[in-house]
Amino acid sequence: MTEPTRVHETLARHQLADGFPMVLDLARSHGSYLHDARSGEDFLDFFTCFASWPVGYSHPGLAEPEFVEELTLAAANNPANSDLYTAQMADFVEAFATRVTPVEYPHHFWVAGGALAVENALKAAFDWKAHKLGVDAVADGNSLVVMHFREAFHGRSGYTLSLTNTDPTKVELFPKFDWPRISNPKLEFDRQGGLLGDPEADEARAVAEMEAAFERYGGRVAAIIIEPLQGEGGDNHFRAEFLATLRRLADAHEALLIFDEVQTGFYGSGEAWLWQTKGVAPDLVAFGKKSQVCGFYSNGRIDEVEQNVFRRSSRINSTWGGNLVDMVRSRRFIEIIEAEGLAENVTRRGMQLVEGLRELAADRDQVSNVRGVGSLVAFTLESTGQRDQVLDDLRERRLLALACGERTIRFRMPLVVSEDEVRLALERIAACVPSGIGA
Ligand SMILES: Cc1ncc(COP(=O)(O)O)c(C=O)c1O
Repeated sequence: MTEPTRVHETLARHQLADGFPMVLDLARSHGSYLHDARSGEDFLDFFTCFASWPVGYSHPGLAEPEFVEELTLAAANNPANSDLYTAQMADFVEAFATRVTPVEYPHHFWVAGGALAVENALKAAFDWKAHKLGVDAVADGNSLVVMHFREAFHGRSGYTLSLTNTDPTKVELFPKFDWPRISNPKLEFDRQGGLLGDPEADEARAVAEMEAAFERYGGRVAAIIIEPLQGEGGDNHFRAEFLATLRRLADAHEALLIFDEVQTGFYGSGEAWLWQTKGVAPDLVAFGKKSQVCGFYSNGRIDEVEQNVFRRSSRINSTWGGNLVDMVRSRRFIEIIEAEGLAENVTRRGMQLVEGLRELAADRDQVSNVRGVGSLVAFTLESTGQRDQVLDDLRERRLLALACGERTIRFRMPLVVSEDEVRLALERIAACVPSGIGA
C-alpha cells in the first residue's frame, strides 16, 4: 500500500488533489475521531465526510461477523439492482421504507449520488406536470420550470446546475436553464436564540416573488424545491410557517413540493427527516449522504397521474440503481441508529453545542447567529477572512469543521458524538475565536 507520506504526491501526479492535508487511516480512526496516518494525530471529526458518515469510525456494529460476511459478498459483486434483485436488496428496501420513510410515502427510487437523487426527483415532477397539462400541450417539455431559492445548493449535475447558486465557480460557464429564483427568507438568531429582523416581512417578499413567477410562467411550474435548511448556502434556517406557505402555494398552483434533504436527512436533524421537525410534509424528498444509498421518496400525489415514473418503465433509471454495498451498510446503520438511540443522542448533543456556542457568543462580539438542530450546527463570523482563519486554527487544534455561505462555520457531528466530545469541541472553538475584542 502507498506510504501515508506519499499519498498526496501520488494522487497529485494524476488528478487534482487539493483536499485535506491529512490521510484518513481507516483502521485507526475510531468513534468521533479521524486518525491521520500522516501525522499520527487524532482529529475530532465535526465534518464527517461532508455530513455523510453517520455512526463514527470503526463502529463495533460494523465488525460483527454476520454483517462482515454479508458486506463482503455484496462487495465481491455489483449487481444491476434496477433489474436484477437480491435478498440483500430486499432487506435494505424493507428496512428503509418501513423504518426511515414515513408510511405516507409509498414510492422509492434509488441511485448513487445526491445530485442524481435531486435530478431524478425533478424528472418525476416534470413528468407529473406534463401529464397534468396534457402531453400534447407540453410537447418537448422545454417550457416547464422549477421554482427554487437564492443560496440553494442542489448539486452539480445537468438540471441541478440550474438551481445551485452558491459559489459561482461551481456553475459558471456551464449551460443552464433560466428558472425562477426566489429570495430566501433565512432566519437570523440573536444571542438568546430569538429571531432578529422581520422574518414575516422577508417571507412576504418571497411569496410576492413566487406569485409573480407563477403568473409569469402560466401554469408551467412543475415543482418548488427547497432545502428545508440550506447547508452549503450558509446553514440558513426557515420558519415552519414559511415552509407551510410553500406547501399551500404548491397545492394552489398544482406543483409538487420537493424537499432536498441530501444533507439534512437520515437522522442528521435528530429526526429521520428535518421536515418532521417542522411539521410540513412535502410531496417528494431527495436524500443521500448519511443514507449511503441516494434517491427520493414520494407520497401518493404522484399517483394522480396514472402513468407516473413509478409505474411506467424506464422513465427514470440507472444501471446500478444505487450500490448493493451501500444498501447492506445503510440497512446496518438503520439497525445501529435505532438500537443505540442515536437520533435522541444527537438531538441532545446538538442542543449542548448550540447552548455552548451561545455562551461563547455572549462575550465574543465577532460570533453571531448561532443556530442548529441535531448534528447540524453553525455560527457566523465577521468576514470571510476571519472565518477561514478560524477554520485553519480549528484544524491546528485538531477539530474538523466546514465553511459555508460567506462567513459561516458549520459543524456536522457524528450521531455517536458524546457529551465530553462536544465539551472538548467547545474548548477548542473558544481557543480559536479571537477574544478580547468582545464585550
Ligand atoms: C442539499 C444538497 N443537495 C444535493 C447535494 C449533492 O450531493 P452529491 O455531492 O452527493 O452529488 C448536496 C451535497 O452537498 C447537498 O448538500
